[in-house]
Amino acid sequence: MEGTTGFGHTRWATHGAPSRENAHPFLDCQGTIALAHNGIIENHSSLRAELEAKGHKLTSQTDTETVVHMVEDAYEGNLEAALRSVLPQIQGAYAFALMHASEEGKLVVARKDSPLVVGLGTEENLFASDVHALLRETSRILYLMDGELAVITPTDVDVYAPDGSLVKREPEVVSWTVEDSEKGGFAHFMLKEIFEQPGVIHSTLLGRVSDLESDDLLRGGTSHVKLVACGTSFHAALAGKYIMEELAGVPASAELASEYRYTRASGEKPLVVLVTQSGETADTIAAAREARKRGCRTLAITNYLGCTIAREAEDVLYTRAGLEIGVAATKTFTAELMGLYLLALRFGVDTGHLTADEARKWTDELRALPRAVQSVLDSAGEIEKLAREYSNSRSMFFLGRNINYPISLEGALKMKEISYIHAEGYPAGELKHGPLALLTEETPVVALVPRDHTYEKMWGNIGEVSARGSPVIAIAYEGDDEMEKYVDHLLHVPWVKPVYSPVVNVVALQLLAYYTARERGCSIDKPRHLAKSVTVE
Ligand code: M6R
Repeated sequence: MEGTTGFGHTRWATHGAPSRENAHPFLDCQGTIALAHNGIIENHSSLRAELEAKGHKLTSQTDTETVVHMVEDAYEGNLEAALRSVLPQIQGAYAFALMHASEEGKLVVARKDSPLVVGLGTEENLFASDVHALLRETSRILYLMDGELAVITPTDVDVYAPDGSLVKREPEVVSWTVEDSEKGGFAHFMLKEIFEQPGVIHSTLLGRVSDLESDDLLRGGTSHVKLVACGTSFHAALAGKYIMEELAGVPASAELASEYRYTRASGEKPLVVLVTQSGETADTIAAAREARKRGCRTLAITNYLGCTIAREAEDVLYTRAGLEIGVAATKTFTAELMGLYLLALRFGVDTGHLTADEARKWTDELRALPRAVQSVLDSAGEIEKLAREYSNSRSMFFLGRNINYPISLEGALKMKEISYIHAEGYPAGELKHGPLALLTEETPVVALVPRDHTYEKMWGNIGEVSARGSPVIAIAYEGDDEMEKYVDHLLHVPWVKPVYSPVVNVVALQLLAYYTARERGCSIDKPRHLAKSVTVE
């Protein structure tokens, strides 16, 4: 198409099937106003009824289309004024982009509870939901706050507060480069990001391990830590529960963000740690608000400077994973684990559970993790062979106990989301309470068996599985060769302290999922039906 001004949108369907009629942008009845939207309009049914009663013709099943017709009604020659007058009637979450045929060269955008960033270029200005999309053009980013509206032309960007007053804000300069958003010789972003993990661990620790002084995060009556997150970040949060208990001696629990807000507030006020790589996950943001409403102190672990959660939470610990493009989270997961280890060590010193000397020993072991992860990456060829052998499976199980139980969940999630093989993660001891009935000779079982206090019990569980004829792939420490006799395949990972074993184990599982999906010819970086940031609740 010819022209100098425009926008596009990849729709993540909330109302109405993915189809041409439901695709953005939407036009008003005259075909002069175009609108794209990321989010959900919760009161769309009543808005639609009112518009249809006035004679508007809506052609899609979407919630979004209502808004362009409302703007049409309000339009009196100025697009931003029309949008501003409509916004108070809209319930839900939105990032809107609009243009009008007779206001050439002008884009109007607005956001509430959905992300939107503006990039300042040279003789051009841009906007997107995500910084990634802009890096090729600019590193100067203006973050729009909730409720703000911006008017974008090739030469100017004017940001307005909800009351219509002009906002003065300096752009931030992001350090991620275009190279970060390229594959650098790897077949997929996911593989590149898996291989970046030694560097990510190193940078997340950099300059932080010697600094275990904390403010009063855990003082003032906080009796425990509640970790709240979604998806892969939830698995990090669940691992975080074990990490907190082991390294900090602090009782901890993990909860799914989408469930947290529906629990009843007890009198207790835990420190709520929100784990989210994007910092834009709608459920996690809603949980942060709920936690504050309940009077809890909030701390976010996130990867994005300036993201919404960083503004919602009182404290932020930034991971330094860099740009992650593959929809399947890999390096951001290990970075989140690093954040949780750091936090737990800080709490451990604060509460007197660890002496400074003990904390230093633990951090020395943390510093050794990049090398351990590199050695797992060096065994990628072996994992690739294994993946080929089992790539036709219809179903797989992943087993772990204690701190490796969340890692079994993560291994299963990686497998199902990119290879489309049905996969279940289970605490190994639970298998006999039902799921054992599903095991056949065609159901490979991956068992995580570090030498910790669950080792003997894991042996027992492997025996139960083998007795049912299922092929067992064990992931165990180097030197643990005895097991070879009892399992079908043994993958070795280097010895690390058991509390750190999730880091090496998860890398092996990421590779297994990756090579399986590649063997099956799947769309690895963009699995079907999924989005990188889930900005709807
Ligand atoms: O950005 P977040 O960490 O909050 O994302 C949460 C989940 O949507 C995310 O972890 C998702 O499960 C992964 N993409 C799966 O690989």
